[in-house]
Amino acid sequence: MSLTLARRLVAPQPGWTTHADVIVVGSGIAGLTAALRLRQRVDRVLLVTKTVLDEGSTRWAQGGIAAALDPADSPAEHLADTLVAGGGVCDVAAVTALVTEGPGRVRELVALGAEFDRTPDGEIALTREGGHHRDRIAHAGGDATGKEITRALIAALDAVRHDPGIEVVEHAMVVDLLQNRVGRVCGVTLHVLGEGQRDGVGAATARAVVLATGGLGQVYSSTTNPSVATGDGVAAALRAGARVRDLEFVQFHPTVLWLGAGSLGQQPLISEAVRGEGAVLVDETGERFMAGVHALADLAPRDVVARAIVERMRAAGTDHVHLDARHLGAQFLEGRFPSIVERCRSLGFDPATELLPVAPAQHYASGGVATDLRGRSSLPGLYACGEVACSGVHGANRLASNSLLEGLVFANRIADDLSARLADGDLATDTPVEPDTRRTLMDPDRRLDVQRSMTAGAGALRSAESLQRTGSELATLASATAEEAAAPAWETTNLHHVGSLLAHVAALREETRGGHLRSDYPERDDTGWRGHLTSWVDGDGLVLTEYAPIQDHQEVSA
Ligand code: SIN
Repeated sequence: MSLTLARRLVAPQPGWTTHADVIVVGSGIAGLTAALRLRQRVDRVLLVTKTVLDEGSTRWAQGGIAAALDPADSPAEHLADTLVAGGGVCDVAAVTALVTEGPGRVRELVALGAEFDRTPDGEIALTREGGHHRDRIAHAGGDATGKEITRALIAALDAVRHDPGIEVVEHAMVVDLLQNRVGRVCGVTLHVLGEGQRDGVGAATARAVVLATGGLGQVYSSTTNPSVATGDGVAAALRAGARVRDLEFVQFHPTVLWLGAGSLGQQPLISEAVRGEGAVLVDETGERFMAGVHALADLAPRDVVARAIVERMRAAGTDHVHLDARHLGAQFLEGRFPSIVERCRSLGFDPATELLPVAPAQHYASGGVATDLRGRSSLPGLYACGEVACSGVHGANRLASNSLLEGLVFANRIADDLSARLADGDLATDTPVEPDTRRTLMDPDRRLDVQRSMTAGAGALRSAESLQRTGSELATLASATAEEAAAPAWETTNLHHVGSLLAHVAALREETRGGHLRSDYPERDDTGWRGHLTSWVDGDGLVLTEYAPIQDHQEVSA
């Protein structure tokens, strides 16, 4: 079935303009890191974020940040674990950059002021999560790692906020990318909820744009992602003609507190680190079921655990399993996981005395805007880092706690590449042209319909039949147009665009690998499918998809 998407969103003509050397979109670990480093090297950086600086996914990261910090550990071992978790389709060069530069970047974060939990002798305390063969997860505030990293980065930003070389605009939603006559990205259109001159839709031009807009979890009915994670960056890049890779690989976190079938939106995550400290999964009869599934048992890679849970729930006809952390005791749990314990108790569950009902829910997009080792996308002038990007680091299934590290490492790589290019006179200031193209806007009241359709047909378990149904439902929903061009309609259209492509490529990949679980093709097929699906839209909005097999001789085992 072919898929056609509009090339732009319906939006008012820009009523104001501004200019910077580089525009960074998004304020999680990737966006803040890129903006802070670029600011030291280029004349003017504009950082825009959809709501407030600390509203993105980074703040919600519980478990931590993975890096070979222990002298007994090594980047080579971190590389090996990442490749295995990634299901044979990671980019080895990208993972090598991640694991070798990672420890130094984490130490820079410490120097910047991020306070990680320490052992009694003052070393950074390290724990273990699924798929890791060593303790290499640094954490902060017990289970509030993302919150502490966000605090430290925003404090660093606050310290330079009055510097004329950097401007921060909150409540600024990017609508679309601006391009010159040959497609080079030279700015964004954005809607600012502001006062005075910068209110409503404007045009911000720049020599380059860095997308760090985070994930797309809201494409599903339930997710661990915050409400801002509506796939805006992937959708805007796609409409502009950028290549998007591996979108079918969606990670479902195995242990999300199950609050009932009708529970919508952001759900409470029970960090994998709880299993790292000894909690175990049991089914409705109280039986531990991971031991027979994988050598790492409850700490198998995330896709393996999520799949085992889905299969166990199907066999038993239930909608959740249980996490047993009771043996860890109230004192340990309250000290090590204060936020999780508090949240569970506020919802009526006590992990110290009761089994926790858990089920997989959407957690992370392993695919996204295709980028190279420097963070460059396929469109000149457009960079991407963090969850919006597909750097090749995660393959089919991101290894636990590699996401914060990826944001950190690749944001630095982008800042280095971009500042060198701008200093060389590359990417000169250019004039955007208005494309003569089809525009669209979906009725925001159909958002739940998009999410329900994606969850039912393109969720944790998919099949040709379910994906076909979702594809048809989404195609029908496209005709429900909005009357008012405003954030709810732009977000809903972004969800629709990203969901449509995701369902489209998930239907093409006829195998099970990583976060892509097909009931009709339950096995991994390295002969036919060890490679990447990459999609882009042509001038008429027709989605084109190309499959490229991987040529290396990576040693991989499930
Ligand atoms: C968790 O704490 O389980 C989530 C960490 C991650 O997604 O890497």
